[in-house]
Amino acid sequence: MEYLYCKNDNFEDYSSGRVLYGGSGIPNFPVRLINEMFGRAVHYLEKKSDLTVYDPCCGGGYSLTVLGFFHSAEIGKIYGSDIDGNMLEHAGKNLSLLRYEGLEARKKELEALFDAYHKASHHDALQSVEVLKKQLGKPVDSEVFQADCTKPLPRLDADIIITDVPYGNLVDWDNGEGDSQDLMLEQLSHISDQEMIIAISMDKKQKINSAAWNVLEKHNIGKRKFLIMSRKKG
Ligand SMILES: C[S@@+](CC[C@H](N)C(=O)[O-])C[C@H]1O[C@@H](n2cnc3c(N)ncnc32)[C@H](O)[C@@H]1O
Repeated sequence: MEYLYCKNDNFEDYSSGRVLYGGSGIPNFPVRLINEMFGRAVHYLEKKSDLTVYDPCCGGGYSLTVLGFFHSAEIGKIYGSDIDGNMLEHAGKNLSLLRYEGLEARKKELEALFDAYHKASHHDALQSVEVLKKQLGKPVDSEVFQADCTKPLPRLDADIIITDVPYGNLVDWDNGEGDSQDLMLEQLSHISDQEMIIAISMDKKQKINSAAWNVLEKHNIGKRKFLIMSRKKG
């Protein structure tokens, strides 16, 4: 696949655990790929600004936070949900970095760590805070909530749903059902009446069989594949 929406770059300022909060068991996602998936999803939407973006398997909110930094001009609101309350705590902390006061608080935390331990990693992270401050064009509003996305979900008027579903590497589907992605896609088709595009990443071996969504694009990237889909009409 040719990358159309994100050039190859050094994304170390966004590394999990540097400024963005990470930790053992907290998943992350390639920065270039999530930006590419977002760009491809926006391409199919008539609406190009004030977008509502939702990740129903948001984990620690890594992907959503990265998207907030790169696309604050286009994004009006971010929603993240996950079945796991511990993940959501991380997601809330990460998404708080999309407000200047959140970044300032993280800077103070890193300064205290640097004063205590004089580690190069904290010094580097402090430099990355400055890069992220410049990158964040405007603050991005966000909200997280706990939900099993294979069950009925609240209405959200999302424009873009973007997600990396569990594939049993670091995290598995919590309800253990083989057709969880299809159940999720069915529930997601009911969250809004407006035009919605979904960008979904999964393991190459995982299959989708959804009556609710049309596949617009499908790409293989290493062990992963991602699909861009629009909701079927009627
Ligand atoms: C691959 S991770 C997502 C990573 C995330 N996109 C990120 O950027 O960090 C998949 C997530 O799905 C969550 N999950 C598993 N089963 C779920 C379910 N039934 N409903 C909602 N979330 C679920 C897991 O807790 C995990 O956080």
